[in-house]
Amino acid sequence: MKIAVVGTGYVGLVTGTCFAETGNEVICVDIDQSKVDRLSNGEITIYEPGLEKLFLRNLKEGRLSFTTSLADGIKDAVIIFLALPTPPGADGAADLRYVLGVAEDIGKLLTDYKVLVDKSTVPVGTADKVREAVAKNYNGEFDVVSNPEFLREGVAVDDFMKPDRVVIGVSSERARKLMGDLYAPFVRSGNPVIYMDERSAELTKYAANSFLATKISFMNEIAQLCERLGADVDMVRLGIGSDDRIGKRFLFPGIGYGGSCFPKDVQALVQSASQVEYDFRILNAVMDVNEKQKTHLLPKIRRYFGNDLKGKKFALWGLAFKPNTDDIREAPALYMIDELIKEGASVTAFDPEAIRNVKQVLGDKISYAENQYDALQDADALVIATEWNEFRTPDFLKMVVRMRNKVIFDGRNLFDTKAIAELGFHYESVGRNTVTGSSK
Ligand code: UDX
Repeated sequence: MKIAVVGTGYVGLVTGTCFAETGNEVICVDIDQSKVDRLSNGEITIYEPGLEKLFLRNLKEGRLSFTTSLADGIKDAVIIFLALPTPPGADGAADLRYVLGVAEDIGKLLTDYKVLVDKSTVPVGTADKVREAVAKNYNGEFDVVSNPEFLREGVAVDDFMKPDRVVIGVSSERARKLMGDLYAPFVRSGNPVIYMDERSAELTKYAANSFLATKISFMNEIAQLCERLGADVDMVRLGIGSDDRIGKRFLFPGIGYGGSCFPKDVQALVQSASQVEYDFRILNAVMDVNEKQKTHLLPKIRRYFGNDLKGKKFALWGLAFKPNTDDIREAPALYMIDELIKEGASVTAFDPEAIRNVKQVLGDKISYAENQYDALQDADALVIATEWNEFRTPDFLKMVVRMRNKVIFDGRNLFDTKAIAELGFHYESVGRNTVTGSSK
């Protein structure tokens, strides 16, 4: 099948590459000439494990190409995916300027039947608006479909190639058949393609992300209670997660959720609700809890250092909002850094992938280390903000010889409290007892 993908950001590039991988001919369109040049020359523009290999193979075999011309991109395509940004506007609602702008432009170019697919996360009713935008300039036959993505950064290729489910909001038989054929290779293992109306599909995406964010904020509140009541959140997590109705996943407390999706989508759903005069109370609380959780370690740090952080030197492990990505959007680490610096402390950070991005934002406000151990040189304490695997079983001896104090504030509960106390560390984490090792 011939496909166009408009927008070569994170979602567009993964979508285009994965559709090419199953034999389709994909043209990706972007207004950014330098990006199109880089991609055409085989230079991948985002960090996503496993993507580069697929990207290079499909580029080489001619199934994947890039252009700045919308007209060239969509000329032969049967299906056109819109993978454009929907940033939060001033009121928190998703800004549809890019999606609707491109839809209008497509309307000017259409000469025969095509299916336009909303891949971006868009508020309920957007499919109708896209339809209107196209119809401004075109009165022939076309369909608009809502097909939200559920890709997680870091495992997006796997999520795309082997989705738990594919949600397709569609009201025409013709478009339904085309979409079904396109996705057939991805659901061979029997996972469902769930067809529904466009509005339900649009809401499904927001509901899924908001539910997951709620799960996390709920556990973060349970963790707060654990700290106050002397319970261990890891035990509570295992205790409740074994119930199938609750499930084991997404129950890990920490220093809040971040990234490009959860914060934006929860806010957008609250905003959509208020536009139809509904006060989505649970989600307001979810946002509130998450804001507070980002700075959860700070009172602990202040207390430990007698409310005086001036001149203290902190090592920080982890900058990305989660492991296996270089994405620092809404990353809790950045909030921690802000606060620590405000109080006169200095920070030396290490992250396996995100340093380059942080340098662009923070420049020399903090120092950057070449590896996790260098970051610890003369540190008064280590703060952990992201659960990269390489932080999980570090060489504690190497740590101890570098650190000024054996003190760790862990926002991701990486270590066993008993074991770390035995190594002589003072260790504070989230929702578990503080332990202080004997050889402090
Ligand atoms: C999410 C959705 O999972 C995905 O389906 C959607 O398409 C985009 O948004 P992503 O933002 O890549 O994906 O990250 P995800 O792995 O879901 O984690 C989101 C945040 O929740 C991270 O900040 C993570 O640290 C946090 N998290 C996750 C927790 O704090 N605890 C958990 O148990 C799980």
